[in-house]
Amino acid sequence: MKKTDALIDLILSDIEMKDVLEVACGTADISVSAARFASSVSCIDIDDSSLNPKIKQTNNILFQIMDASKMDYPDNVFDTIIIYNSFFHIQSHWNEIERECKRVIKDKGVIYIVGTWKLDTNLIAKIFGDDAKWQDSFLIVKMKK
Ligand SMILES: C[S@@+](CC[C@H](N)C(=O)[O-])C[C@H]1O[C@@H](n2cnc3c(N)ncnc32)[C@H](O)[C@@H]1O
Repeated sequence: MKKTDALIDLILSDIEMKDVLEVACGTADISVSAARFASSVSCIDIDDSSLNPKIKQTNNILFQIMDASKMDYPDNVFDTIIIYNSFFHIQSHWNEIERECKRVIKDKGVIYIVGTWKLDTNLIAKIFGDDAKWQDSFLIVKMKK
């Protein structure tokens, strides 16, 4: 099983029939995995240099070039946000990105910060402490609004 499919299986109740946003998506492989179950998937990155070409063939995924610290979305539009193996790369703007994520999720929405790479997991563990929990090979922080 693909690693991104395994993560989606773990958090399926927050994906199935939900409006999902992947932030700092890079290849957007998590978006591809989520799109099998979600109502809609949006994914953003500051550039499209790593983007998986499959995104363009998947009807319910919308990729946009967008700075996560200044999102174009209105308030309260997503059920679930996923930040996957990107925390290290966005750490310097985390305060602004966290504020934006909390603005664009619905009141009962959830934000997942997930790492598998040492670079990410070490930092996630340091910043979030006991709120970061290992499930299989994923270090997961689940935040509410
Ligand atoms: C490690 S990479 C992508 C990881 C991705 N989840 C994956 O599995 O391919 C981190 C990404 O963060 C993006 N990024 C960095 N700062 C950003 C920002 N302010 N807004 C949106 N994306 C950003 C980079 O362009 C890069 O694609």
